[in-house]
Amino acid sequence: MTGTETVLGAPAERREGREKVTGTARYAAEYDAPGRAQAWPVPAAVARGRVTGVDTAPALALPGVLAVLTHENAPRLGDPDDPTLALLQSPQVPHRGWFVGLVVAETLEAARAGAAAVRVTYEAEGHDVTLTAAHPKAYVPESANGGFPAVTEHGDPDGAFASSATRLDVEYRVPPLHNHPMEPHTSTARWDGGRLTVHSSSQGTSAVRAELARMFEVPEERITVLAEHVGGGFGSKGTPRPDVVLAAMAARETGRPVTVALPRRYLPAVVGHRAPTLHRLRLGAGTGGRLTSLVHEVTTHTSRVKEFVEQAAVPARVMYAAPALRTRHRVVPLDVPTPSWMRAPGECPGMYALESAMDELAVELGMDPVELRIRNEPETEPDSGKPFSSRHLVECLHEGARRFGWEGRDPRPGSRSAGPLLVGSGVAAATYPVLVSPCAASARALPDGGFLVRVNATDIGTGARTVCAQVAADALGVPLDRVRIEVADSDIGFAPMAGGSSGTASWGWAVHEACVRLTGRLAEHSGPLPDEGIAADADTSGAADAESPFARHAFGAHFAEVTVDTVSGEVRVRRLLGVFAAGRILNARTARSQFIGGMTMGLGMALTEDSTVDPAFGDFTESDLASYHVPAHADVSAVEAHWIDEDDAHLNPMGSKGIGEIGIVGSAAAVGNAVHHATGIRFRELPLTPDRVL
Ligand code: MOS
Repeated sequence: MTGTETVLGAPAERREGREKVTGTARYAAEYDAPGRAQAWPVPAAVARGRVTGVDTAPALALPGVLAVLTHENAPRLGDPDDPTLALLQSPQVPHRGWFVGLVVAETLEAARAGAAAVRVTYEAEGHDVTLTAAHPKAYVPESANGGFPAVTEHGDPDGAFASSATRLDVEYRVPPLHNHPMEPHTSTARWDGGRLTVHSSSQGTSAVRAELARMFEVPEERITVLAEHVGGGFGSKGTPRPDVVLAAMAARETGRPVTVALPRRYLPAVVGHRAPTLHRLRLGAGTGGRLTSLVHEVTTHTSRVKEFVEQAAVPARVMYAAPALRTRHRVVPLDVPTPSWMRAPGECPGMYALESAMDELAVELGMDPVELRIRNEPETEPDSGKPFSSRHLVECLHEGARRFGWEGRDPRPGSRSAGPLLVGSGVAAATYPVLVSPCAASARALPDGGFLVRVNATDIGTGARTVCAQVAADALGVPLDRVRIEVADSDIGFAPMAGGSSGTASWGWAVHEACVRLTGRLAEHSGPLPDEGIAADADTSGAADAESPFARHAFGAHFAEVTVDTVSGEVRVRRLLGVFAAGRILNARTARSQFIGGMTMGLGMALTEDSTVDPAFGDFTESDLASYHVPAHADVSAVEAHWIDEDDAHLNPMGSKGIGEIGIVGSAAAVGNAVHHATGIRFRELPLTPDRVL
């Protein structure tokens, strides 16, 4: 076996795995250079207002402190594309935790001490950080995040609901959530004359470079952004963050290389969060459990810095056949930190609410919840009327039910117990759109028989470089070990970020094209290769951004078994089982990691993760991993992911759909539905902590 037949789909090991586990992989804070300085930001201590004075003298008097930057002395920058990056440009404080200063010092300790010594005075104004569905400032935006229309409507949802035989009208609430990647947002910047080089912990170097060029008014060719290893992002590193702007600014002001590693406790206010969502769902059903009306309305918040509207009603446009359908988003601008992308923005909280409500409807109808979903399978995408490129939700439900042992389940709540524990099981469906963007890549055949493939992918812990190498080996028809790959360098060329579950499809498409072209060139060439080899480039603009006549989405089904302790109120997840239909799976090992990682993140959302906006102070109460509880190993006993092989010709040359986010979608609903089955109590607000459950 040459390996060429099985290279796509094979469980290839991560190319950087050894470096990571031996501690030799370098992250953005670890690019030391002679004279490198460290910086520590100063967060605003009021929820709204303006800075009236900054006394930097006590900080500057400390040993090792090199500079204190504030809005009074920081360089004026060009307007950023993202207004959350207009740092130290004005005395205004739009929310608590907004950076009002930066201390640069010889060491991290000196920078931190300096930041503590800076004295800032404010003129505070009244603030409002409390989201309610009836908030007088709520409005319907032009569009939701992702460019989705804020409102869609088909038929007469209110009339159809009013005349439905079975009606469910319920409200769900998902709190703010935080991404909290293991590696905080960090950048090391260095200026050499007019050239800027930045090592940044980012999900995409092209976007960072473009923003730095805009803000520092330097041509993009004079900026190099590198992100060789990134310790997670979950969306929060999908756009440039304050660390990179502050590092570049401080490096220019001090003439030193500067590292800005944002302290964990400052992250919640400055790198985005999943906005809280208030959901109202109205489901009407007729004979046989068929939906007659489906209304999903969402109210969320945004900051006063920019509008970000969590697109949580969007999955209801995809899931179920209902002759009358309305989805609507409203947003309330508050004095809160700016929300942003967090793993499956929209789908994740939206499907929690929709799939919980579907479970309620099944109970109401006395129908099995797997069956209810199957009865409501649409022929075409409900909102657009487009045919699906492939949709195997029913197969996922069947396969999951079979593997989980769903058959024979006693549907009566509270019917299973073991000592003080109540035992329950639940199901929920999942969906995530297929996204893909144009990308550049190159491939070079070398005289030693190897191939060098370059694509500006970012590997945020997913195995991106490994799967891109597999795509190359497959297209070249060579064993995987003949392919070398270079990624995460803005000089390689344009690439979209690692986000929207689109990375592999986007980078892989360009890699595939470059390798196919190279194969063509090699076929025309005779004799030994020249020293520099033979190369081919590709750019998928025009192909990867073409409008598809198909509705393209991944689907999945989650099954959960939980225990609820009647003494302590503690919910534990005994088993999570997911079956996904996500096109062709390109690497069985890394795909499984993505699926179970997403499912585990959904488990955290269901049981422990909770950011609270403090009404008095205006920012998040939980600001570190001691108070924001992500699942630990002991919380995750058995998580299984399986998939259905899909052969879908309407995607990209690899036939893949994207797997980074579908695992989290629906996972929390399956847990919540299992808790209802265990207890007979429907909790409609996450997380299901003991104080709520008991
Ligand atoms: Mo993900 S939230 O699209 O990085």
